[in-house]
Amino acid sequence: MPEGIVRTGTSPVRGFDFVKLQNQLMKKIILFFLAFAMMQGSGCTQSNKKADRVVGGTCEDCALMFEGIPENPSWQTNIAGPDEPGESLIIHGVIYKQDGKTPAPDVILYVYHTDNKGLYSPAPKQIVAKRHGHLRGWMKSGSDGRYEFKTIRPASYPNSKNPQHIHPIIKESGTTLYWIDEFLFDDDPLLSGQEKSRQEKRGGNGIITLKKNEKGVWVGKRDIILGMNVPNY
Ligand SMILES: [Fe+2]
Repeated sequence: MPEGIVRTGTSPVRGFDFVKLQNQLMKKIILFFLAFAMMQGSGCTQSNKKADRVVGGTCEDCALMFEGIPENPSWQTNIAGPDEPGESLIIHGVIYKQDGKTPAPDVILYVYHTDNKGLYSPAPKQIVAKRHGHLRGWMKSGSDGRYEFKTIRPASYPNSKNPQHIHPIIKESGTTLYWIDEFLFDDDPLLSGQEKSRQEKRGGNGIITLKKNEKGVWVGKRDIILGMNVPNY
């Protein structure tokens, strides 16, 4: 998987297996109907009559977030089960409105990442969201804007120079969903200066510092500012 992987620049997907065009077209058709069906029933898109404002440009594969989305996500989630191999990781923070000061409640934050082998290993029940792997979860920010997820620290793609990363996608009321900068870790030896410089700071800085707590769990904090550096926001 990692050989030949490139980041598209229009996608939160740092990399995935390139499949034949025919397969991609078929998947896009399936995705379209899946996303449409799920958005009809999803509380995160509201039942407002007005169409969502289109923001953030291309968001390739973002609609995969709707597969399996809970009806009413909690502000915190546990992504990795107790048997998931890897080092435990907790990431938390506050989602702010565009002013960077006012907490933003009821914002859906979806995250997904590789396992501790660097693979997006799918769960048996995943259909079209396979390429996001089984380590994925949803949160809805609380009245204080807080979010938190517990998982394992992802590995970089096998035999690659891609740093460890977690993909986040935002869905807020009134806008289309959009991606923000990946969660990256400043102690990752693969996080090069070049990699740092190409970050767009969408939603604010995504490079976080991890420290182990007394239980040996990696803990990091990232606040998110809605719309920051997001085109057409
Ligand atoms: Fe990725």
